Amino acid sequence: MERKDFLRSLGAGAAFALTFPCLNGCSTDSEDLEQFPEPNGVDFTVDLTSTDAAPLANNGGFILVKSSPSLGYTDIVVARNLEGNLIAASQICSHQQTEEVRFISEDGGVFRCSTHGSRFDQDGTPLNSVTSNPLKVFNTELNGTTLRVFE
Ligand code: FES
Repeated sequence: MERKDFLRSLGAGAAFALTFPCLNGCSTDSEDLEQFPEPNGVDFTVDLTSTDAAPLANNGGFILVKSSPSLGYTDIVVARNLEGNLIAASQICSHQQTEEVRFISEDGGVFRCSTHGSRFDQDGTPLNSVTSNPLKVFNTELNGTTLRVFE
């Protein structure tokens, strides 16, 4: 029996199930993702007059920062929200720990992870069903042109 005859004999549903068994993912996504530890013990400052901090001059702007100089990757999102307040959250997503969290100006300003589309309120509350784990957020304190980000 030829392959197509075999599949036809099974019926369309079974043929589809045999032919495309992984359309919704056979494995957990985390197996293929590079994952990072959630930032801990965060306490650093940002010089708002520096070139690196220039995006924070505008509402909706954000920068990615290392919580520690020894890190080989950035792990904190510092943003100026749409009301002009400086806020900070983990760049490491609470869903599957990718480093894809950014601040976006949609819906009044939210944190979003591009890996699977999770969205978080500015206090870290999950806004969709991708994850129920809150995003870690940090305190901010402005002293002149120096922003302190801390837990
Ligand atoms: S890792 Fe899945 S939404 Fe961020």
